[in-house]
Amino acid sequence: MAHLHTKVWTIDALPNPQIQEAAELLQQGQTVAFPTETVYGLGADATNEKAVRSIFEAKGRPSDNPLIVHIGSRDVLKQYVKDVPAQASKLMDAFWPGPLTIILPSNGTLATNVTAGLDTIGMRMPDHPYAIELLQACALPIAAPSANRSGKPSPTTAEHVYHDLNGRIAGIVDGGRTGVGVESTVIDCTLDKPMILRPGGVTQSDIETAIGPVDLAPSVVKKDEQPRSPGMKYKHYAPDAPIWIVRGGSDRMREVALEAQQQGKHVQFLVSQERAEELGLNEALILGSQKNLADITSNLYDSLRQVDRLDVDLVLAESFSKKGIGEALMNRLERAATKVVQ
Ligand code: TXA
Ligand code: MG
Repeated sequence: MAHLHTKVWTIDALPNPQIQEAAELLQQGQTVAFPTETVYGLGADATNEKAVRSIFEAKGRPSDNPLIVHIGSRDVLKQYVKDVPAQASKLMDAFWPGPLTIILPSNGTLATNVTAGLDTIGMRMPDHPYAIELLQACALPIAAPSANRSGKPSPTTAEHVYHDLNGRIAGIVDGGRTGVGVESTVIDCTLDKPMILRPGGVTQSDIETAIGPVDLAPSVVKKDEQPRSPGMKYKHYAPDAPIWIVRGGSDRMREVALEAQQQGKHVQFLVSQERAEELGLNEALILGSQKNLADITSNLYDSLRQVDRLDVDLVLAESFSKKGIGEALMNRLERAATKVVQ
């Protein structure tokens, strides 16, 4: 693909004229990365087939994996969907703007490569002031997957985006670190009983409090099921070195580490502060405190990216609780891992 000069706009406050420049590039059919409350997205005009194609090219993304469409206000939703089921409406009341993508019946208005030919479409209103400002300034629906090269962890800083996509995209709006740190929850509201296709920033219990019982996709519960969300079938987030998740406590982790070290392997640890202390480690990738799973989740992708900068043969990762945000955390960690050790 053609080499582009990738502009970086560092934004500290609003209003900001650089957001206007980014919006104009989007209107011209270019690709621009921007921060959201979950991860950075790589945006392009969702009404422009060619612009959307550049997203797939820049990321090296398989074209059968549909993109999420980002909007800056709820009013425009009806332009792109056939209808908004009552439960979807309630979810928007409760969680928009926020880390929840809602799958709705598409009316076919947007470029066909956005939905990879499906008759449904994922819509989301992000909860980030720069994202909203950008969406409103360009006045377009913006298709945006995470702004990483396909297969790599989603970016939680502008530096991650630059590392993966410099020279491949028109620009990056740098808004500092993102908050949630893993992608939005994806929920299919075209079914009578909505189904969570991807766990994320909004938890199942948050959703059930708002609309009652929902299903969790079989592919989330059990890794080898055929996924309903096309993107969930690809290997994700994987650093170059293999990651093993070690169930059980510090003693088990010590045993597994020792065995690998005896085979001459250089082992690194991806653990909580508490676990690092129990193991007496002076070198580890520390995710945060076990008492704060949200913090651990928000640090996960940066730590996975750090693995590639270290000289290691094997990473042993702690297994965390799947309660609340832990469902999303462990979903991503399991998909990055090559093995679970009991
Ligand atoms: O937090 C997020 O959602 C981020 C930020 C940038 O908004 N975006 C993101 O996009 O994670 P992406 O493309 O990396 O993930 C989109 C997921 C994929 O698993 C895709 O298969 C699924 O949503 N998806 C999109 N449209 C769908 C549809 N119509 N039906 C089922 N799954 C869909
Ligand atoms: Mg992604």
